[in-house]
Formats: sequence, C-alpha cells, structure tokens
Amino acid sequence: MITAALPYANGPLHLGHLAGVYISADIYARFLRSNNEDVAFICGSDEHGAAITLRAKKEGKTPKEIVDVYHQSNKEVFKQLGVSFDYYDRTSEDHHHKTAQELFLELENKGAFIKKESEQYFDKAFNQFLADRYITGTCPKCGAEDAYGDQCEKCGSALSPTELINPISTLSGKTPELKKTTHWYMPLDRHEKWLSEWMQKGNYKGEQVHHVKDWKNQVVGQCMSWINAGLQPRAITRDLDWGVEVPMKDAEGKVLYVWFDAPIGYISATKKWATENEKNWEDYWKNNDTNLVHFLAKDNIVFHTIIFPVILAELGDYILPKNVPANEFLNLEGQKLSTSRNWAVWGKDYLNDFPGQEDVLRYVLCAISPENKDSDFSWKDFQARNNNELGAIFGNFVNRTLVLTQKYYDGVVPEKNELLDVDKEAMEVIAQTPKLVAHAIRSFRFRDALSEAMKLARAGNKYLADSEPWKLVKTDPERVKTIMNIAMQITANLAVVFEPFMPHKSADLAAMINLDLPKWNEAGDSDLIKKGHQINKPQILFKKIEDAQIDEQITKLKEASKKPSKFPPMKDEITFDEFMKMDIRVGTITAAEKVEKADKLLKLTVDTGIDTRTVVSGIAEHYNAEDIVGQKVSVLLNLAPRKIRGVESQGMILMAETEEGELAFVSPTKDLEAGNTIR
Ligand code: MF3
Ligand code: ZN
Repeated sequence: MITAALPYANGPLHLGHLAGVYISADIYARFLRSNNEDVAFICGSDEHGAAITLRAKKEGKTPKEIVDVYHQSNKEVFKQLGVSFDYYDRTSEDHHHKTAQELFLELENKGAFIKKESEQYFDKAFNQFLADRYITGTCPKCGAEDAYGDQCEKCGSALSPTELINPISTLSGKTPELKKTTHWYMPLDRHEKWLSEWMQKGNYKGEQVHHVKDWKNQVVGQCMSWINAGLQPRAITRDLDWGVEVPMKDAEGKVLYVWFDAPIGYISATKKWATENEKNWEDYWKNNDTNLVHFLAKDNIVFHTIIFPVILAELGDYILPKNVPANEFLNLEGQKLSTSRNWAVWGKDYLNDFPGQEDVLRYVLCAISPENKDSDFSWKDFQARNNNELGAIFGNFVNRTLVLTQKYYDGVVPEKNELLDVDKEAMEVIAQTPKLVAHAIRSFRFRDALSEAMKLARAGNKYLADSEPWKLVKTDPERVKTIMNIAMQITANLAVVFEPFMPHKSADLAAMINLDLPKWNEAGDSDLIKKGHQINKPQILFKKIEDAQIDEQITKLKEASKKPSKFPPMKDEITFDEFMKMDIRVGTITAAEKVEKADKLLKLTVDTGIDTRTVVSGIAEHYNAEDIVGQKVSVLLNLAPRKIRGVESQGMILMAETEEGELAFVSPTKDLEAGNTIR
C-alpha cells in the first residue's frame, strides 16, 4: 500500500513537488510491480483547507472553481510524466466525505476525541472565525514579521495562532479578537507512550519494530522532538464553510480539519479503486502482511508519523506505516523554490518545452533527489546529465550495440562462443545489477539505486571500448559474435532495470530490441535475449540538449520571477478600513460642457442619487461633451472639493487608463440606478 502525499489543488505542480514526493514514490511502485508484488499506489488532490480558500479569495473565485482547474491539470502532469498511480482521487468527492465522516463517528463513539471550548481568533468585520493561515503576525521564536498562524516559514517552527505577536487578520487587516468556540480534539497526549516506543524500538501488536534503525534519521528525529516536547491535544475540527462537515448535531458551521480528512483520503481512494477493480480494500489497510509506505516531503512528517498513526491505531484494525521515507526540499539554481516569487519550474512548462523527454526529468530529479538533505536543481546540471550521462553513456552504448548488430548480423542476435575474462566480468555486472538496484530501492535509497543501474550502462560502454569488436570483425568473427551477444544482454537488462526510473525510455528500448519488457526476476540473466532473435531498427534514445535550450530556460526563469510589467507597480498596502472610507457610487452624467481655455477638461453635472453636483474631469480628449449625457459612471463622492480653473469640483469620476493614457469610464455592466454604492 503506497501513498503519495495528496497535493493541494490550489496551484500547479513544480519540480519541488516532483522531486520531493512523486518521482521516488513512482520508482518504488513500479519496481514492486515489476517484482510481481501486489501494489496499490494511491494519490489524489487535497481539496480542502485554508490553502484552497485563500487562493479562491485572492482570485475572486469559489473554492470549487479553483480545485476543479488544478485537479485536472495536476492529474494530467502526473500522467504525462508516467507517474503510475492506480487511483488519483479528489477529496471533494462525496464518497470521500462519507468515509471521512464514518471514520470520525467511529472514533467519536470509541471515545477517541475530547470536546472542549476555547478562544479562537474571530474577524468581526467578516463575521467569521479565522483559519490559522488567515492570521499573520510576528513569529515568537525568530521574530520574522510574516509568520502564519500555523507555521513560521522563516524558521520552520510550528505555531498556533495565539502565539503570534501582533496578530492580524488577512481578511480585514485588523487585529482579530478572541471568541469562544467548541471543537473536537484528538488527545495526542494519551498516545505519547506507545508512539515513542513504536518510533524507537518496541513492539506494536506483537510485532517487533525498530524504526530508529530502519527509518531515515530526519524522520525519526522530527517525530521524537515532537514527542519529547510533550504532545498536546490537537483540534481536528474548524469553523469554516469549506470542507467535510462534522457529522454531529451540535456542529453547525464546522468542518473537519484538513489534516484530519486528507490522509483519510488515502483510504477512501483505495476503497474507490478496489470497487472499480474487484479488489478488497481491507487487504491493503487491515492485513498485517501488507506494508504501508507513505511518500512525502519533510513538511508533512508529523502528520504521517504521529497524527495519522494515532487515527489508525484508535480505529484499531488498521495497520501502521512500515516506513515514511520523507524527502527534504529541492532548491532551484541555488535559491529556495518559491511559488509566490514565481521562482519555480512548472511541470507543465517542462512537458511543453521538452516533449518526449519526460524521462530525462525523472532521471535528473532522481539523481539529485533530496533524500537526506536539501539539494539543488540547476539547468546546466540538467543539461550535463542528459548529454554526458544519458546520451554519452547509456544512449551511446545502446546505439553502438544495436547499430553493429544490424550491420554485422542484419539485426539477428548472434550466439556466444568461448568466454574470456572480460566477458565473465561483464556477465557478473549483469547478474549483480538487479540485486544491487533492488536492495537500494527497498532501502529507499533511490539515488544509489539509479547509480547502480547506470553502472551497468557504464560497464557496457567500457566493455565495447575494451573489446573493440569493430577491429576484430574481419579477423576474428567468432569472437565478435560473443561480444555482440553480451552487449545485447546488457542492453536487454538495461531496459528492465531502468523501467522504474525511465519507463518511457525502457518501453522505447524494449521496442527497439523487439522484446516484451521482461519482469524484474528475469533480469540478471545473460541469456535474456536469445540468439537468433530479430531486433528492430535502432533510434536515438536520448536527444542532445543544446546550450540555446538551456539559456532559454534560465532566461525564462529569471524573467518570470522578475514579473516584468508594463503597468505601474502596486501601491502600498492599505487596510480594509481605509478602503471602506471611500464613498463610491453609480452616477449619471446629466449635462457636460467644455471648460473654457482648457483642452482637457469637461465640466460635468452628475446625478449621484443623493444630490446633483458638479465634477470637473480631464476627459475632453477622450469623450465629446454631447456624447456622454446619460452615461452611467463611477463617482468618488467624499473627495474634498477643490477648485479647478475657477470651477469647484465636487468629487471625482473613476476612469480606467491604458499605458498610452487612453481613458475609459468605469461603468456598471447592469442597468443600475444612480446612488447605488460601489465597494
Ligand atoms: N496537501 C498536503 C500538502 O501539500 C499534503 C496532504 S497529505 C495527506 O502539504 F496525507 F494529508 F493526504
Ligand atoms: Zn520564526
């Protein structure tokens, strides 16, 4: 049972997501499938929580509109990259809401929760409780000024909103007030003892576990530092209108906390997949022989090593994760990836710009995977790995082998004759490679696994270079047959051992050698492709990536992050209150005339619904006085009057202005009456 953290459907996927979670998870899933193991590889969109509602607010859309867009586009990126989820679900689906509610009730009936009243920040202007993410303030730990209510992104501390110094509501820009509300809590403190044992060394349901040994240091470390600091009850409901409704009578206006419902998404997606594929979902979640593995990045660790395990353990008959091989973060060109600064390479853009080269990205992201510490993606390194490793080693070896086999034997695999030491050495590498790769993958060391697989391609290259069949073809044709047979065995084995890493290229290679891709247990064999087998015409496996393409990417990155704009930069932030001070209304122009000796000015008489007033406006070069009588406009009423060319102007007409200075009225798109307010 393999899960990959459900990405929030509030934005597109970038290389950080892919390197942090999905590429490793997919390598693992593909490897196990190739080993004929029974795999369910589950993911989907995380569509609840403040991350979604914030984005929706920013864009003036509904949460549903946001998640519909990103669910589709993220799903498509995964598909094109060959990330082989068995099911890609979404948490806004009814079936997930139902499962999450059922499990909530099951836990409630078991007495797994406590209910308590507390004071939470409330925004009076918006008449709503504030999700943690809607509150910013000064971090009590490091003093950063823009910490969120749940976390400081500067120092990484997990926070609660009431710890923030000078909290501000991001909705109104005002200081929120504390107001009483009741929530359900998961009393994590009750679970400290068994969690600590389970994490370090102990016994869970009769099984010896020793995760200090078999989990990554940073995973156990983060988890233990939480436990050692003392676990606190954690609220698992929120006052919000977007999410899974709390299925209780006295819970109106409350939804499940996103971190309660999202991991349950793994279970609901498994159920859905099982129903559609005649499987039994319980085999994957309730059978002690099943290995549950969660893939995720470091910001998700505690949710999968403490909170979700507590949920599973309280439910009783569920298994706990065997491993949580969390990755660290990927940087980009030496800087932290940032979606807000647009310092990112988007999956979709890569797929557009490098068609047919999906696997190059998979290869590079695996080679630099932030397995134990943060790592860096740079375009130059990407190019070098493609050209110097994939092209010059793997591609070159395969191409020489296939071209020579065509040339010498019309594409028919020759037989082996007497074996020399170099041959035996090459065959030994063939035999060892799948074992070494498998061991590394099972230990969640994907970089090592890839480098072991690459060693086979290197060995192949060296084998050809050392044995120089092209020099012997006239003088010792029997010897050349042996060499080319072994080179073909290496080629066929490469197709198998690279499948988890580069599935598209493996399929291409298998097609070139006219072989149904063998399974993992067949690899290691120096007779994987039989003598007399007819291969197909070779094609170039890895295209060279030119400097110009790389320069273009680097320029694009820098330009996008600069956000060059022909428009003026944004003005200083104002508060909601400041905005609300302006009294803007719909007005009707009832008369207009030119102001004498002023080319640009018109003197307008405006019906504002509450009075009739005179406004002098600099629009004479854009509108004729006679054309605009009857025009509905937007008027700022409470602007202090001022004299313009001897005429008192009482207010201001709002105009949209192009960068060339062209002006246009801002008018309601429906037939509204003068006096209607604008805000
Ligand atoms: N959406 C979360 C994130 O991107 C991950 C959710 S993982 C799950 O950080 F377990 F909750 F599903
Ligand atoms: Zn901080």
